[in-house]
Amino acid sequence: MSSPAPYKIPIIDLRAQYRQIRDEVRQAIDEVNESQQFILGPAVKRFEKQMAAYLRCTHAVGVASGSDALLLALMALGIGPGDSVITTTFTFFSTVSSIVRLGAKPLFVDIDADTYLLSVDGLGKLLEARGRPRDGQTVDLETGLRIRALLPVHLFGQCCAMNELTALARKYHFQIVEDVAQACGARASVGDKERFAGTIGALGCFSFFPTKTLGGFGDGGLIATHDAEVAEKLEMLRMHGERAKYHHEEIGINSRLDSLQAAVLSVKQKYIEEWCEQRIQRAETYRRLIDESELVGKRLIGIPPLSKDKSHVFNNYVIRATRRDELKQFLAEQGIQSEIYYPLPLHLQNCFASIGYKPGDFPQAERAASQVLALPLYPELTRQQQELIVDKILAFYRS
Ligand SMILES: Cc1ncc(COP(=O)(O)O)c(C=O)c1O
Repeated sequence: MSSPAPYKIPIIDLRAQYRQIRDEVRQAIDEVNESQQFILGPAVKRFEKQMAAYLRCTHAVGVASGSDALLLALMALGIGPGDSVITTTFTFFSTVSSIVRLGAKPLFVDIDADTYLLSVDGLGKLLEARGRPRDGQTVDLETGLRIRALLPVHLFGQCCAMNELTALARKYHFQIVEDVAQACGARASVGDKERFAGTIGALGCFSFFPTKTLGGFGDGGLIATHDAEVAEKLEMLRMHGERAKYHHEEIGINSRLDSLQAAVLSVKQKYIEEWCEQRIQRAETYRRLIDESELVGKRLIGIPPLSKDKSHVFNNYVIRATRRDELKQFLAEQGIQSEIYYPLPLHLQNCFASIGYKPGDFPQAERAASQVLALPLYPELTRQQQELIVDKILAFYRS
């Protein structure tokens, strides 16, 4: 995470939020310090219960990071060599590294140009062409691998079309593991019910990296599930695979949510609804300010769709911009930080070269990588700051 110091308006300013909750947080940290129970103590249990109640799922298992949540979720499903997992190439690194680390193969689908989310249409076509469902499993006709899971990413805070994805998962007999690192607090309509992102698939993987909608004071993560057996397996896997002390059933890892982080997160969780609403309001303000300008009409920039129903909680406010890199540089010179999520899709990363994809395989993701720009967005961002940011964007395109 880069330091906000040199920027008049950083991409996110966590200090403003801390000032609001400082006393509560200090007290929560003090309680853990007094108890000296740092590993899976009462603070972790309390937070897991609190999250399960908030998300309306039966089990929540705290782990050391969002990346570990993904790895452990796939481990719990027994995914490994001979398996493939469908996902998007336009995401954070560990969505895909978790698959590869277990010896399974990622099977990428391009993104939808408007939302940047894994294309449901593309997924349907891929399965139609290559997936043969038989005897309760689906084999990829091209690779001979079993398609075991779909790993959709609720990117930038926006929920994937879970109704459609769930229908495909049923038809092709695979599990859904949701990457909800960027979308804690977002909801999707499933059937006639509203459900939290991360509680619709078999497992939902959350990150509490400080910049997320629910961010800790360091690394942290959590896995949500409705399945008691899976939850028990996750608790074992996060603790070196041991059920009884020093008796190991499986080769697990050391990945526990830190008690101090859990204490901080318990405080912050109480504010998440309010903070998500403030994020949505600020996205609305950007839309109004940008719509009033000539930028969208002239197709110089594209803005994300709004949601009043919390299907998008705007972990990030990402526009598409013509001359993106120049705009980023110009904004930086004006003291405004912006970021590129993500400049290189994962199918083109050196470390994944052996998977065998090449430039041009996922044109929408590759185009997005050259055009997207995240503007500052956090609950405490002021109207004046947003006006200044949009004024500077206008000044750039008028110059
Ligand atoms: C989409 C996505 N997946 C996974 C992760 C990994 O989370 P963590 O940084 O907590 O390991 C992140 C975090 O940046 C993310 O944005």
